[in-house]
Amino acid sequence: MIPRRMPRRRLAIVSGLLALSGALVACGTQEVSVPKQDAMVHRGAVLFAERCSGCHTLEVAGTQGSSTKVRDKERTDGPNLDQRHETKDNVLYAIRNGGFSGAIMPENIVVGADAQAVAAFVAKYAGDQAHAPRGPGQ
Ligand code: HEC
Repeated sequence: MIPRRMPRRRLAIVSGLLALSGALVACGTQEVSVPKQDAMVHRGAVLFAERCSGCHTLEVAGTQGSSTKVRDKERTDGPNLDQRHETKDNVLYAIRNGGFSGAIMPENIVVGADAQAVAAFVAKYAGDQAHAPRGPGQ
């Protein structure tokens, strides 16, 4: 209950803080949402969130590293993997080579079994939000 004599200003601060904590909780929901039963893919998602999140967006891993606007894109921002399908081999290639071009993404951020797990995860979930381009007459 709000005490009767609480000054209006303090009331405003309290409700401001409450709104802020609500916003923080909302951020906390950005996490890996891959089922744990699929152990290898889940591990890949956790590794992806740890090592690849700074530069790639992929919703199921809770990452938002890709740029959203052309105007604020940085050179190191990688492709949004929600919008691109990737094969496991291509992901392994990108990990070893440092992206497809070898120019920007660091090489071998994950290796061995970790790389296999990350590749299995990305191949399974990348492109979930991809749309086929419109054909003529659509
Ligand atoms: C420092 C930023 C950075 C990090 C960290 C990073 N990437 Fe990248 N990645 C990029 C950039 C930039 C490109 C695009 C340029 C290129 O392909 O050469 C890219 C390209 C890719 C591609 C090719 C996608 C396509 O269709 O063109 C894949 C797959 C990929 N990254 C996966 C990963 C994985 C998996 C990790 C974590 C192990 C990772 N990246 C970490 C910056 C990064």
